[in-house]
Amino acid sequence: MDNATLFKPKDTLFETNERVGDFAFDQKVAGVFDDMVGRSVPFYQEIQKMTCQLTQDFAAPGTHVYDLGCSTGTTFHHLHPLLDDSIGFVGLDNSAPMLEKARNKLADISEKRSVQLVHADLEGNYTIENASVVLMVLTLQFVRPLAREKIARKIYDGLGHNGVLIIVEKLISADGMLNRLFIDHYYDYKKTQGYSNTEITQKREALENVLIPYRMEENVALLKNVGFRHVEDFFRWYNFSGIIAIK
Ligand SMILES: C[S@@+](CC[C@H](N)C(=O)[O-])C[C@H]1O[C@@H](n2cnc3c(N)ncnc32)[C@H](O)[C@@H]1O
Repeated sequence: MDNATLFKPKDTLFETNERVGDFAFDQKVAGVFDDMVGRSVPFYQEIQKMTCQLTQDFAAPGTHVYDLGCSTGTTFHHLHPLLDDSIGFVGLDNSAPMLEKARNKLADISEKRSVQLVHADLEGNYTIENASVVLMVLTLQFVRPLAREKIARKIYDGLGHNGVLIIVEKLISADGMLNRLFIDHYYDYKKTQGYSNTEITQKREALENVLIPYRMEENVALLKNVGFRHVEDFFRWYNFSGIIAIK
């Protein structure tokens, strides 16, 4: 077991019958996030592994790898041993408690390579430059739909030739019946991970209006519209997907 997995307080945040507010990446969520994401996203470890493998394929010496919505820094933690030290890491998140966790997790790494952790809103001011890989693992779905294309364009502009954007997203299906079935299977999965019916219902309510999934076709169209020459899914489990877009 490595440092990223050693210390993982258990997520019991939604074990309550009281009315819950909108989900936010605050101090409480940051405190249990690694356990929450590991038990809430099917094949999370595999998604991390595939994301890292693809990043290794495209990351070029002397460039930056960006992780937009880097949370506690897990992806950079896994990427560090795989990439040349001349590749700088830039993590961006608008949650200060998440960045605090990331700073701790990546403290050792930052002695060996350039690691910048930037507190910024994806809809606000920040730069993406000299990038060979940009990651958005379970993040784009939290950005207001109106802002998504502008962000994708900014990423496209900041990538070099043959650079890639890797996104992992929860999806909605255009077919109502399939959508219900996928969601049912997802909730069954959450039960196998130890979440109760109450926790599942409460989290679903908290995420409503905060996590807004697109259909697969909408994500592909968004990426093609801003100029990516090739867009392909590399992962799919019911309503979860991983997509790679090549400039
Ligand atoms: C589900 S988490 C991402 C998980 C992480 N990438 C991983 O691989 O485990 C989504 C992250 O995006 C951040 N986020 C959401 N909306 C954002 C925005 N508008 N600007 C910056 N960060 C945002 C949240 O604070 C949160 O840390």
